[in-house]
Amino acid sequence: MVKTLVLILLALWTVTGRADDVTPGLGQPLSLDTLSLYAITVFPDGRGLPAGQGSVAEGRVLYHQQCAFCHGNTGVEGPAARLAGQDGLISLRDPLRPLRIRKYPILVLSVGMWPHATTLFDYTRRAMPHYAPKSLSDDEVYALAAYLLHLNGLLDKTATMNAESLPQVVMPGRQRAVMGEAWQLAERGLPPPSAAQQGE
Ligand code: HEC
Repeated sequence: MVKTLVLILLALWTVTGRADDVTPGLGQPLSLDTLSLYAITVFPDGRGLPAGQGSVAEGRVLYHQQCAFCHGNTGVEGPAARLAGQDGLISLRDPLRPLRIRKYPILVLSVGMWPHATTLFDYTRRAMPHYAPKSLSDDEVYALAAYLLHLNGLLDKTATMNAESLPQVVMPGRQRAVMGEAWQLAERGLPPPSAAQQGE
């Protein structure tokens, strides 16, 4: 009986407590400056891309300094993920692929089939080089994205990428992407589905 009473009191106390009473009270609020270090998402349409620019030529130099030893001289040799060409076991342009895939199965997939060029920027900026993520400047990331697009035959060697030009590059994998409902509405100039409809 006493046990039940205690449980009821405890339940009442939890229910009537204010929301901020039930937090553990750990940590400290993030400042906007700190937050901006983490709020770095670049969306498929280019929203979130920073100022800056980088050329294929600059990207080529950076790539050979910081990326080639994991991704291969032309982006296809591995051992880390393949950065150029189509997905698949074989390719006429890349006759050694079956042998490499036998050794590193991850090489069957290619970044060249990603649906959006802007993802190259987001991914490289947040995650690469693998041993030092977020060490590249925005200009360097633009240059590397430009060079990777060049390796995929999508950009001329004289091209330069920035917040305007990068989202305009149409990747071969674009048709494979299925965008969410909110996205489709936005593309047709319609408002997002209301919170009520989403059951929130
Ligand atoms: C020390 C090795 C290493 C270096 C150096 C490196 N990468 Fe990577 N990279 C990886 C690995 C491992 C992955 C796969 C990571 C995963 O899936 O979690 C990867 C994944 C990627 C991907 C996504 C591939 C996919 O299919 O998901 C891109 C794009 C990429 N790297 C670009 C770069 C660029 C550009 C550089 C140079 C600035 C670079 N990497 C340097 C090891 C490396």
